[in-house]
Amino acid sequence: MHKPDFKEARTMDKRNYETKKFELDEKYRNYFKGKTYFLKTYGCQMNEHDSENIEAILKELGFMQEEDYKKADLILLNTCSIRENAHNKAYGMLGRCKHLKEERPELMVGLCGCMAQEEVVVNSILEKFPWMNFVVGTHNFNEIPNLLVKSLSDGLQVEVYSRERDLIEEMPTERQSKFKAYVNIIYGCDKFCTYCIVPYTRGRQRSRKKEDILEEIKSLIKEGYKEVTLLGQNVNAYGKDLYEDYSFGELLEDVAQLKIPRIRFVTSHPWDFTDHMVDVIAKYDNIMPSIHLPVQSGSNKILKLMGRRYTQESYLELVKKLKEKIPNLALSTDIIVGFPKEEEEDFIKTMDIVDACKYDNAFTFMYSIRHGTPAEKIKEQVPDEVKEERLQRLNERVNFYFLENNKALVGKTLKVLVEGKSLKQDNAYYGYSETNKLVNFTGENIQLGEIVDVEITEAKTWSLDGQRK
Ligand code: 5AD
Ligand code: SF4
Repeated sequence: MHKPDFKEARTMDKRNYETKKFELDEKYRNYFKGKTYFLKTYGCQMNEHDSENIEAILKELGFMQEEDYKKADLILLNTCSIRENAHNKAYGMLGRCKHLKEERPELMVGLCGCMAQEEVVVNSILEKFPWMNFVVGTHNFNEIPNLLVKSLSDGLQVEVYSRERDLIEEMPTERQSKFKAYVNIIYGCDKFCTYCIVPYTRGRQRSRKKEDILEEIKSLIKEGYKEVTLLGQNVNAYGKDLYEDYSFGELLEDVAQLKIPRIRFVTSHPWDFTDHMVDVIAKYDNIMPSIHLPVQSGSNKILKLMGRRYTQESYLELVKKLKEKIPNLALSTDIIVGFPKEEEEDFIKTMDIVDACKYDNAFTFMYSIRHGTPAEKIKEQVPDEVKEERLQRLNERVNFYFLENNKALVGKTLKVLVEGKSLKQDNAYYGYSETNKLVNFTGENIQLGEIVDVEITEAKTWSLDGQRK
């Protein structure tokens, strides 16, 4: 058994990893033929993409997908630690699994992803759910086949490594979309914002080799993919741990020259955003004018306590530069309310920055204490009622700008990548604009995966309506 340990997670030797190829041990191929799985994914795009790898591994083991968890032979939870409510959802599901297991003792249950990296979680699983088959961490989900098989004879397997393992290349992938694909470029995060558990659960920063990234994108293009999203907790730090003179700007430029129609990337940290990156985004039409730039707070006092390394002023300067250089830029953000010591005047500064940036989209959260992070130790925590009230005011403000920005698009023509067809109405489709806005529209002779011109006829807060031109 390997249990997680946050102290160890903090102290990784940065360059001490290698790249290895994924290989399924042939004795496990089709081992579970005829059995079914239900995989539930919580959290961010990184987890969604890990689940695409996990599903492909399960299929190599012979499992088939089952939509109803009550009927599945294996229930696997790919979990998220970012806030307490993500924890609660996963625990709720484990509770339901417990009842099912009483009815069907042969049921297999596993947990992977970020929660597995937390010692408190692993201890509570050992105590409350000892009948489970396996708990496997974010650094070694490639070991699911042998852990699952071993659990059938030896019971619960806990294999969680706090130190990063080797990067695994050529992992099989069962992609959710035929047109849009996620591509990892960097794993982990070195920023250690004081509220955030990610550097502990996902480990320190490790960039994939540029050749591996470019090869993956070339083969996606051959398969007909129209859009790639480059993924990382902090994509702007790409390359810092690997190369002297090759960073995210250079990578973006190399990807753009492969000529895939659409390139997106998440998430950007303002501190690592260089002028060169801004210029590259502005230079290439196939790099989408849509940037997710978490601000977290508008108050310099709170930003300092959060360890964000920028000020309200430097953030606004970056936004100005981006808006000047990138026409039609859509800006989105993440904001936390109720960080310890946040007072009304700090919160007003957050509202001010929203007014200044007029975001096209924003994910807003109440601060949630994460066990083992520095902010947990700050005494002046903000009461829940205050957090709730601030969140409500903030949501009203951000929603106002979503609608304002969308209204300005009525009468304009946007390029939309067609992703799906309405089940209710004939000739009705949906897709996303270059600025990542959901567009519902009507038109004839439209193929999924096509990029079409749509004239916008109506604006809503979270979507646009239109007609194919
Ligand atoms: N409480 C609330 N929100 C958090 N986030 C990260 N950690 C916490 C926390 N402890 C938010 C940040 C981050 C997003 C992914 O989740 O806004 O950008
Ligand atoms: Fe967490 Fe900060 Fe890293 Fe984002 S940049 S993952 S908020 S530590």
